[in-house]
Amino acid sequence: MSLFGNKKTETEQLKGIINSIGIDLGTLNTVIAKPNGDKFDLYQIPSVVAVRKDNPKVVLAVGEEAKLMLGRTPEDIVAIRPLRKGVIESFAQAQALLIKALEIGKEEGEIINRIVIGIPGDSSEVERKAAEDIGKNAGAEYVLVISEGLSAAIGAGLPIAEPNGTMIIDIGAGSTDLVIISLGGITDIETVRVGGDDIDANLVQIVKEKYNVEIGIHEAETAKIKVGMFHSNANLEIYETEVIGKAADTYRPKKVVIDSMMVADAAEPVISAIVKGLNLILKRLSPELIAGVYKNTVAVGGTSQLRGLQNRIDEELDIPINLSDDPMTVVAKGAAIVAAEPRALEPDVRMKAMK
Ligand SMILES: Nc1ncnc2c1ncn2[C@@H]1O[C@H](COP(=O)(O)OP(=O)(O)OP(=O)(O)O)[C@@H](O)[C@H]1O
Ligand SMILES: [Mg+2]
Repeated sequence: MSLFGNKKTETEQLKGIINSIGIDLGTLNTVIAKPNGDKFDLYQIPSVVAVRKDNPKVVLAVGEEAKLMLGRTPEDIVAIRPLRKGVIESFAQAQALLIKALEIGKEEGEIINRIVIGIPGDSSEVERKAAEDIGKNAGAEYVLVISEGLSAAIGAGLPIAEPNGTMIIDIGAGSTDLVIISLGGITDIETVRVGGDDIDANLVQIVKEKYNVEIGIHEAETAKIKVGMFHSNANLEIYETEVIGKAADTYRPKKVVIDSMMVADAAEPVISAIVKGLNLILKRLSPELIAGVYKNTVAVGGTSQLRGLQNRIDEELDIPINLSDDPMTVVAKGAAIVAAEPRALEPDVRMKAMK
């Protein structure tokens, strides 16, 4: 596949010599995609790093092992998430995360020399540079940082090269990217710093107010995934799940019931902010692109799996969105496709890949 022109022979020549990899450095999950014939090998680790409290540069565990320590660590260890709201907050720890991710993704003795990293489209120059630097420090010769939205569109196989316009709604853990793509580049972008993490935090609050019981953030996330939905006019089934929390008055464990409506209430500020962002982007949209957006809008990201998203967006904006069938790996796959494309590193393409 050639995204940026007809350079197949060049791509083919490079095959086998150059090892390329696509990375979605997410707030919650880091996903690595490695082209393997027509498919991808996919690897995923939680974006969590455990460090020494008195010297955060000393990394003790990364990924799954570190995630288990979140909120449960001994006093001298802290488990942190190096990305906040989609951008690198702790450089050294993000570095450790990327190195671990590459270790998992490569075979013994293999060298990865081209990597493409997806980051939120409205990242600042400094944030972009930080992502590029950790790629270089991890040993890659070429690093390209592109908008997650563009990467998702490529990974989802949307007709991005056409002049008609397509839209990607990427609702992750920490941020939501709304991206309009036409003629292979990003024509407009709106990043709303809300996502699944906010739903979890709101749910903890709602449970506290309703029952005077405090539940852990992991429990909130699990309940959200189990019974969650967005408010809409569609009569979606209401489910219930039981969660054990800590009674605020007696400090005893207490069972509480969380139902779909409570999750929808917790998700309401998030979906409202997303709708607001979509309204802004539609207002700016050229009339030439609206038909394309109507036909080709795809929602990706873990939070796009919450029931009722399609109904709610259609009710609010008259846009029938499609849901991706692999919402959590499309960004990495798109990045891998770009990484395998030699022209991806040329300056004019770099310009288009990031707005
Ligand atoms: N089945 C599901 N239903 C609802 N939410 C889900 C489901 N599965 C995962 N999530 C939520 O999706 C989010 C993670 O999605 P994703 O992996 O796309 O985020 P990320 O890429 O790490 O974050 P970001 O793009 O904001 O940096 C979490 O908030 C998680 O709770
Ligand atoms: Mg993401």
